Amino acid sequence: MREPVWDLHNVVVGVDGSEQSCRAATVSADLARRNGAVLHLVTIVRPPEGWWGIVGSPPTPSALSKSLTDAQREILDSVVASIDLSEIEVIQVEDVGDPARMLLEYAERVEAEVMVIGRRGAGLIERIMLGSVANRVVHDAECPVLLVP
Ligand SMILES: Nc1ncnc2c1ncn2[C@@H]1O[C@H](COP(=O)(O)OP(=O)(O)OP(=O)(O)O)[C@@H](O)[C@H]1O
Ligand SMILES: [Mg+2]
Repeated sequence: MREPVWDLHNVVVGVDGSEQSCRAATVSADLARRNGAVLHLVTIVRPPEGWWGIVGSPPTPSALSKSLTDAQREILDSVVASIDLSEIEVIQVEDVGDPARMLLEYAERVEAEVMVIGRRGAGLIERIMLGSVANRVVHDAECPVLLVP
């Protein structure tokens, strides 16, 4: 029989507080557990318009308003509390910037073998198709992407 060629060491999942991303996190946790892979729970806060200002560099998380970083912390806490993470090495990541770009860069940095994301997220607009973050990740990822409905 053919040897498996898709060895998972690093699984990256994007969480944004939505039900879909929670389902994505559940799927990613199962994948990580079965494969003995590290699970990276990544949440990105998009800075409010105008934050990039004259200097053109993103604000550090500590410079962001406390309510935003608190919300980010709550998103991770609620995911961690609601899914089974037993027997998994979990890394929680909070960062600031453009969610799709940051997710893609992070996955490349840790050489993730798979990215797991929800088909839609916390956005308020009812879409027929993919959310904009999911769309960009699916288009631009260097690794396989698992899209969770
Ligand atoms: N800020 C974020 N940080 C981490 N992961 C995210 C973030 N935003 C979205 N994701 C991931 O992408 C998936 C799809 O969300 P997306 O933002 O594309 O849809 P949406 O919110 O419905 O639409 P839009 O944001 O375009 O209005 C989410 O389920 C989540 O897995
Ligand atoms: Mg969104």
